[in-house]
Amino acid sequence: MNCRNDIRMTTRKKSPDDLRSQRWYGPNDMRGISHRARSRQMGFSNEDFSGKPKIGILNTWSDMNTCHSHFKQRVEEIKRGVWETGGFPIELPAMSLGEIMVKPSTMMYRNFLAMEAEELIRCHPIDGVVLMGGCDKTTPALLMAALTMDLPAIYMPAGPMLRGFFAGETLGSGTDVLRYWADRRAGLIDDEMMENVVGGLSRSAGTCMVMGTAATMMSIAETLGMTLPGASSIPAVDSHHALMATATGRRIVDMVWEDLKPSDILSKASFDNATVVDMALGGSTNAMIHLIAVAGRAGISLDLERFDAISRTTPVLGNIKPSGQYLMEDFYYAGGLRALMVRLRDHLDLSAKNVVGSSLGEAIDGAEIYDEDVIRGTDNPLYHEGGTAILRGNLAPSGCVIKQTAADPKFHKHKGPAVVFEDYPDLAARIDDPDLEVDENSVLVLKNAGPIGAPGMPEWGMLPIPKKLLEKGVRDMVRISDCRMSGTAYGTCILHVAPEAHVGGPLALVQNGDMIELDIPARRIHLDISDEEMAARKAAWIPRPFAYTRGYTSLFAQHVTQADEGCDFDFLHAGGDTPEPPIY
Ligand code: FES
Repeated sequence: MNCRNDIRMTTRKKSPDDLRSQRWYGPNDMRGISHRARSRQMGFSNEDFSGKPKIGILNTWSDMNTCHSHFKQRVEEIKRGVWETGGFPIELPAMSLGEIMVKPSTMMYRNFLAMEAEELIRCHPIDGVVLMGGCDKTTPALLMAALTMDLPAIYMPAGPMLRGFFAGETLGSGTDVLRYWADRRAGLIDDEMMENVVGGLSRSAGTCMVMGTAATMMSIAETLGMTLPGASSIPAVDSHHALMATATGRRIVDMVWEDLKPSDILSKASFDNATVVDMALGGSTNAMIHLIAVAGRAGISLDLERFDAISRTTPVLGNIKPSGQYLMEDFYYAGGLRALMVRLRDHLDLSAKNVVGSSLGEAIDGAEIYDEDVIRGTDNPLYHEGGTAILRGNLAPSGCVIKQTAADPKFHKHKGPAVVFEDYPDLAARIDDPDLEVDENSVLVLKNAGPIGAPGMPEWGMLPIPKKLLEKGVRDMVRISDCRMSGTAYGTCILHVAPEAHVGGPLALVQNGDMIELDIPARRIHLDISDEEMAARKAAWIPRPFAYTRGYTSLFAQHVTQADEGCDFDFLHAGGDTPEPPIY
């Protein structure tokens, strides 16, 4: 099963003299001579690059991004496609943001990569760009940069790794290791078995193979029209992935001649389509933040109510962990994203555009479903509503999110007493204390884990179940925080509470024993204290000092927006123009 690159526009709107890179390469002055001479220093002749589209390839490979370990090979395949089609490839390394290794959180560096990628494109002689991403934050960061620069751009998704496997059982990244880790803490399995489980989890290059943030965002990139149709579902080590990389290299050269830019592709309808697909896949809650940020770069305003309205009317059809049963490899064999979108036709705006210059309707035309249990019909959905619900109330005036499909249904309506942790070190120190006053009806509250408070809004939102409850067989509880949760995680976890505790949001005012009400069907989260009591606590609230007074973290804290605004930097929002660099 290959992706589609056969529906192509052919109208050339540019001549070689119109290319942006001609400002560097074209002039017969000292600078132009020196730019040409330096390319010849690399062993290229004038014929290799003169008058050809210069294609930047932003490669997020590194030894610390294990999900992109195949990118050294894929970049050569992309280059092959660029050469074949008469372009000149220019590989540019960018921060790789390996989700597992980067601390305190890749979320703190999403905007860093977005800034780096934007400036890499701006400052170099580039006419079009291939974005190589996949591991969680790389996708939104690269898209944010590309939308801001608005040069022809195409995204090449890393693709998911193969299924995990251990002792006859199929394992999903994150989801199953978290499940086994709960058993380990409960004393049900030993260290050796845990090591064996972990050893079977990650069997190849590629991203996490559940519907975590990476798979969600790659699917969203395709739905937005920023990949070749069908690209996002191909497993990283499948030979079709290499074919897709080469086809991506071919396509970007044509996009330059056609002057097909993100602003020609993306519209409000594209983002609604992306939200529909996210909901139908039971996608990561992180998608809310990233979609708002990406749309913001296109000057399109998304709000949480729109997500919730779409969630209310979109069934979950992708039977993929953590909401469902299967993995991305199964999804690919079942027909992949194009097939899922065929099932969602009535929910999508099929006139939305894409990088091949066709409509979404044309892009999914002919896609077939090969496994009705993996890609469900609308008459047999996994859930009748979308995966993510938006909650509001006096505890989260600017909203919060929950992955309702990954929560125990018995907690969809729940009222319980708060057990409060002031920050993550407090949680780590006390969660397994035998004297902690907690039972299965308690609501675990984690403060100061948001964009500024943590800082970087880490994925701490699946708060651990206290050990003494694990030993009694408890595997889910209501948990509330202002941080995020891995897309691979599960449980009744209310996330992204805004405003966050660090800036004095109501979460900062919760005290042990306060009753908290959760009502997912009514989209309500409520702290059961009077308005007067809330005001008195607010008046007495003392802000916590911020430890970082210099460097990137200081810049981050000064400019990051809250979760409901996408956590972009305020000075990077769409608005004023940044002039092209002068070439002297
Ligand atoms: Fe890279 Fe999960 S760690 S996608």
